[in-house]
Amino acid sequence: MDLSTVIAGVSFPNGLMNASGALCVTQTELEALGASEAGAIVTKSMTPEPRQGNPEPRYVAFEGGSINSMGLPNLGYPAYAKLIPALKRFQKPVIASLAGLQPDDFLAGARALNEAGPDLVEVNLSCPNIPGKPQIGYDFEASERLLEKVGEILTIPFGVKLPPYFDPIHHQKIAEVLQRVEIAFVTMINSVGNGLVVDPEREQVVIKPKGGFGGLGGRIIKPVALANVRALWNIWGDRIPIIGTGGVEHGVDVFEHFLCGASAVQVGTMLVEEGCGVFARLARELAELLERKGYASVLACRGKLREIP
Ligand code: SIN
Repeated sequence: MDLSTVIAGVSFPNGLMNASGALCVTQTELEALGASEAGAIVTKSMTPEPRQGNPEPRYVAFEGGSINSMGLPNLGYPAYAKLIPALKRFQKPVIASLAGLQPDDFLAGARALNEAGPDLVEVNLSCPNIPGKPQIGYDFEASERLLEKVGEILTIPFGVKLPPYFDPIHHQKIAEVLQRVEIAFVTMINSVGNGLVVDPEREQVVIKPKGGFGGLGGRIIKPVALANVRALWNIWGDRIPIIGTGGVEHGVDVFEHFLCGASAVQVGTMLVEEGCGVFARLARELAELLERKGYASVLACRGKLREIP
């Protein structure tokens, strides 16, 4: 079964990859992704300086999903810029996830990444976990200003990782911004920010940072993720590729993301819970499902979701 895909002119052996943040901080983790069946290696979102991130506990899985407030623990731009060229030996695309604590950080990161030469850059406008720093993706003007400046510097095709939106007018507005800045691809959704999970026995929150508020991932966010993928597909069709993220546990979840219009998917919670073997399992389950349904390739089902007349 042909599970290959193309994002912004870059060919992927298959359209399954890690979501930035899941097992992709250290050299060892990035190399494990390289050695796995993942179709790409996505780095942790990087900031100018190395960061320890938020205090623990900061990630908890629960029935149906996960909550995290990692706080961007990462090795910093210079370390990833050094690692990226060596990751190319795995012969699959390397996507650098670029973050920052203030707008100028992103520009410094863009310069560092031009030197490092990943295949694509994913600009993260949607981390919900830095105390006092709102998600840029919810401010359309600030997003446009930042992406314009990043675009003036980056020589590598770049996309954007978006938060979930919950109203059609917001899908329309962000789509217009992204068209104006000529974005090469979109990854959506980041975790559903500032959820709260309660342990009723201990009468306590389950993660320490931000009083227990954190980003939700996993199965419970799949309908929100699918809705966001579909909403942008309805606006753009195949003009701007979408990497669907949220709730991928089984091959059928990948299939649903593609039906809604995704050209690839990222895996977060399930990768953390299962390890890198998740990619081989998802590929097998997806191939079996596509074969049973008579599709010759995964891209053949992209966007084919039917509405009820
Ligand atoms: C984190 O490191 O807090 C998660 C990153 C993100 O959600 O973008």
